[in-house]
Amino acid sequence: MQLLKDRIRKDGKIKSGDVLKVDSFLNHQMDIKLFEEIGKEFKRRFSDDSINKILTIEASGIGIACIVAQYFDVPVVFAKKSKTKNIAGDVYTTKVESFTHGKVYDIMVAKEFLGAGDKVLLIDDFLANGKALEGLAAVVKDSGAELVGAGIVIEKGFQPGGDRLRADGIRVESLAIVESMDEKTGSIRFRGDE
Ligand code: G4P
Ligand code: NA
Ligand code: NA
Repeated sequence: MQLLKDRIRKDGKIKSGDVLKVDSFLNHQMDIKLFEEIGKEFKRRFSDDSINKILTIEASGIGIACIVAQYFDVPVVFAKKSKTKNIAGDVYTTKVESFTHGKVYDIMVAKEFLGAGDKVLLIDDFLANGKALEGLAAVVKDSGAELVGAGIVIEKGFQPGGDRLRADGIRVESLAIVESMDEKTGSIRFRGDE
């Protein structure tokens, strides 16, 4: 998606440790006009799939998922991250290992909001190592719902998540795939570009 790639080049900041900061339009301040274009693009890509639910994970996936959901006219469910073992009630749960934060946490979704008959699109802001998305896919499978695919705003193609999930047969649609980035020069190369 050219508009998004241009915006990343213009306002993204490359930090040490292969981190791309996009706080001015995606992760902290949010550009809702851009989110609307993102929503239209996911709708275009998944228009034939009869999606009836969007699933994301707190925190930074929620804002994007809500705008995207307006184009599908479906509800958004977000998986909650929990640090405690105090799992209350009837929930699907799975463990997610965060490399970036060096810890394991549980995610949970109430059974009431996901189940057989649902056709689910996963939405998230970033795809890096893919553990969060893998956890969401596991929750969908556990629920008996159908996983249609995943819509990702920015994939870091030099990290293994996206390629592994595709190899597992999950349809992953990323609007911008960063193939490489250089902290010193500030240059970013996207997959598919020369
Ligand atoms: P992953 O396996 O799920 O891909 O996650 P990973 O541990 O690699 O990354 C941990 C968190 O950092 C995730 O957010 C992920 O979205 C985010 N992230 C990974 N790489 C980048 C990056 O280059 N730039 C930015 N801005 N974020 C990145 P989280 O902490 O799980 O969720 P949230 O609370 O921030 O939503
Ligand atoms: Na996220
Ligand atoms: Na994040």
